[in-house]
Amino acid sequence: MIETIAGLKRTKYCGQFRTQDIGAQATVFGWVQKVRNLGGLIFVDLRDRTGLVQCVFDESVDRELADKAFTVRGEYVLAVCGTVRARQVVNDRLPTGDVEILASELRILSTAKTPPFEIVENSNVNEELRLKYRYLDLRRPDVMKNLLLRSRTYKVVRDYFAENGFVEVETPILMKSTPEGARDYLVPSRVHPGRFYALPQSPQIYKQLLMLSGFDRYIQIARCFRDEDLRADRQPDFTQIDLEMSFVERDDVIAVNEGLLQRLWKELLGVEIKTPFRRMTYREAMDRYGSDKPDLRFGLELVDLSDTLRGCGFKVFASALEEGGSVRAIKVPGGAQKLSRKEIDSLGEYVKTYRAKGLAWVRMGEQTTSSFAKFLSEQEFGAVLSAVGAQEGDVVLIVADAKSAVVFDSLGALRCEVARRLGLIEEGKWEFLWVTDFPLLEYDEEQGRYVAMHHPFTAPMDEDLPMLDSDPGSVRAKAYDCVLNGYEIGGGSIRIYNTELQSKMFDLLGLSKEQTQRRFGFLLEAFDYGTPPHGGLAFGLDRLVMLLAGEDNIRNVIAFPKVQNASELMSGAPDTVDDSQLEELSIKVWDYKDK
Ligand code: AMO
Ligand code: AMP
Repeated sequence: MIETIAGLKRTKYCGQFRTQDIGAQATVFGWVQKVRNLGGLIFVDLRDRTGLVQCVFDESVDRELADKAFTVRGEYVLAVCGTVRARQVVNDRLPTGDVEILASELRILSTAKTPPFEIVENSNVNEELRLKYRYLDLRRPDVMKNLLLRSRTYKVVRDYFAENGFVEVETPILMKSTPEGARDYLVPSRVHPGRFYALPQSPQIYKQLLMLSGFDRYIQIARCFRDEDLRADRQPDFTQIDLEMSFVERDDVIAVNEGLLQRLWKELLGVEIKTPFRRMTYREAMDRYGSDKPDLRFGLELVDLSDTLRGCGFKVFASALEEGGSVRAIKVPGGAQKLSRKEIDSLGEYVKTYRAKGLAWVRMGEQTTSSFAKFLSEQEFGAVLSAVGAQEGDVVLIVADAKSAVVFDSLGALRCEVARRLGLIEEGKWEFLWVTDFPLLEYDEEQGRYVAMHHPFTAPMDEDLPMLDSDPGSVRAKAYDCVLNGYEIGGGSIRIYNTELQSKMFDLLGLSKEQTQRRFGFLLEAFDYGTPPHGGLAFGLDRLVMLLAGEDNIRNVIAFPKVQNASELMSGAPDTVDDSQLEELSIKVWDYKDK
């Protein structure tokens, strides 16, 4: 028989009982973790979001109650009333391990089927099954803990920004598209057949308009939607800590945000992080680490061998350079000991996933072996070794390509992979970094035009303005990214705030006057009504919480995440809809093949 909670009030959560409670009357609610019968004593471990408490049913005190307790199974939902007493056998691994509740009443509030996986910490159940039954997965203490941390993150963020004079404003979810470089999710309008809202990729335009309205400092914990390929640190719907400030320059925005991170780390982890953070220009980050989000917890910096190898005897190197590319290397100190030939070959396969055509190497063990020494003169080979400063015991890994971007990408990823494989990454290290001076524009070969590296509203650097016409590719932006341990946790910029420059920017991006007017006319018009200089930033909240939680995948800090193919396994979204719904929206679905 299923019972109710009528008349019962919880005195404490399960995980909160301590020795001070001994002697007190207690009422607890929770899920059954485990039932054990030890000769006349039935032990039921009861779990809620705070942890476990042991409830004891003593046959010699109340036979009927003990028999009832023995009928309960894992994940049943119970109410237990009783007296807190000292435990005979203390359990050091549980915060409540000194005490137990000697039960005088038991109500079975809900029964439960056997769950498809055990509700325990660190289970290695496959993720698909976990996500299909996410509501059960969330019961697991490690996943629960992440979501609780996330909740505390919201609070610290809100407190911090409120204390610093920021105003929280909600911006629309159904809106006109704001380009941030990804595809939009579209929502059809019933009232306006053939027209669509876009879900926000970010509140970028709205927050700029709020500056124009005079809010001065805006903050929002904003849901954003981007139809892009998923990765471990990307979801199609995700959350930003989005902010904007008026009458500020780059360093003002940076200072406020360093303060936020300092506060988060202090309050959530008890860790003091030092400010100001390191800064590095985009150029330096690329040259030294092959990435605009370098992980600074380890070295393995890139060395440019282009000048050393120009016109050398190895065709792979020489022709990459002739075609305008580069040859770069990383030196792995002591690598000869740790990296076998086989291991180096597998690194060769690894860089191919970053479009590198191969990985040339030198291994300076007892004998020096190399995949390319035979193609070079002794002098040329010697010059390579001295350029990288290679010594006995080292391994040198080299990528050449006609596209320097491929060299940077592959070596940037390779240095992280080598660091992971060789255990060079110190746990508990927090390497915060601002990357500044990004290029304003990036040439997109496929589209045959420039695209904005951040977004089209980012201001060019004042001193580079004259190059906007003559050499747009070399113009730097007033943009900055916040990087932590190799993750881009936030990005922002000082904005364009006049019509003329903004129109010019749209021009450079290849938008016609008509397109600009249709898509952004309202913004350009707004700029004409007195716009304060302004700038801001957005953190990826999911990424921040992932790092705070020590996780390596944002799915582990999102309650109901989507998987690689952007579907949600529990509910089965996205799904087809009824024909009548489509008809109402004036939508006809073309024949399509299930992807
Ligand atoms: P940006 O596009 O750099 O800037 O986004 C800001 C931060 O949001 C996080 N992020 C994501 N997190 C999870 N899944 C995704 N798909 C995803 N995409 C981005 C990243 C990133 O640094 N409007 C500008 C901000 C500004 O200029 O103020 C913007 O959205 O951590
Ligand atoms: P091969 O002439 O094919 O025997 O190549 C000699 C070495 O050069 C091998 O170790 C290849 O992996 C390496 N190699 C080939 N292409 C590249 C490249 N683009 N960059 C660096 N090394 C390469």
